[in-house]
Amino acid sequence: MRVTAHLKMNFFLETLRLIVFTIYYHLEAVIKFFIPQKRKDVSGEIVLITGAGSGLGRLVAVEFASLGASLVLWDINLDGLTETKKQVHEQGASRVHCYQCDCSDRQAVYQVAEQTYKAFLPAMIEKNHGHLVSVASSAGLTGVNGLADYCASKFAAVGFAESVALEMIADAKDGVKTTIVCPYFINTGMFDGCGTKWPRFLPTLEPDYVAKRIISAILTDQVYLLLPRSLYFILASKGLIPFKQMVILQMYFGAFNFMDAFRGREKKKV
Ligand SMILES: NC(=O)c1ccc[n+]([C@@H]2O[C@H](COP(=O)([O-])OP(=O)(O)OC[C@H]3O[C@@H](n4cnc5c(N)ncnc54)[C@H](O)[C@@H]3O)[C@@H](O)[C@H]2O)c1
Repeated sequence: MRVTAHLKMNFFLETLRLIVFTIYYHLEAVIKFFIPQKRKDVSGEIVLITGAGSGLGRLVAVEFASLGASLVLWDINLDGLTETKKQVHEQGASRVHCYQCDCSDRQAVYQVAEQTYKAFLPAMIEKNHGHLVSVASSAGLTGVNGLADYCASKFAAVGFAESVALEMIADAKDGVKTTIVCPYFINTGMFDGCGTKWPRFLPTLEPDYVAKRIISAILTDQVYLLLPRSLYFILASKGLIPFKQMVILQMYFGAFNFMDAFRGREKKKV
């Protein structure tokens, strides 16, 4: 009986706590939406960017260079890395280390350096300091016909990053931050040919804009970054509406035909 009373007590107290914090965090989110957030200083921080030889990786590297960070750049494409190195030097970066590495090859990753999630994380945890950024995709939040393999890898990326973020909270390592980036199509070449039916609601994004939003999310410790904003609406409705309604919603947004005219990048970008 005592146990039951104890459980009841916990139930009421914990429910009250849940309600109070729910209201508090909602208000906090609304305030943060309207008031510009303080940005953290990353000068002197070591920033490792995988896929830095092109597209988003290169743009994010250039942005971090202008903020005074020390850069460790990885890519499978050495020519792309060389071009990125040139551009970050133009931004005034003095400490830049480039490594050719195939991130899909576990041996190669371990050979190139000790800088992987696995090798970085213990040091971050020890210092209770660091920031893990996972560039996933809107395809990591909702399935897309014709993109099953890509969606599987991006769902995995989101799940992994989210779980590690929760592990940091569980271990009281709140100095190790996480940002999970889920953009819709970006005009980098990777998804060349893919169209969007309603560009006002779901525009193909410009790489510069995405890179700037990623930097802003990192500097303000934003956990989820969905781009464009309409994705927040789509994601929320996914959990609320019947599957068949989701299907007609996807038809309405042209999702069933996203990949029809897919060409991808025709030649390597340098
Ligand atoms: N472009 C889009 O429409 C889009 C949309 C949502 C998410 N994303 C994601 O954003 C990230 C960046 O995409 P992007 O558009 O800048 O692509 P991108 O092709 O311009 O750049 C990817 C870079 O990764 C490098 N790379 C590829 N495989 C590698 C490997 N195994 N090891 C090391 N480097 C490797 C490439 O050489 C290239 O320099 C990707 O994770 C992509 O899935 C892209």
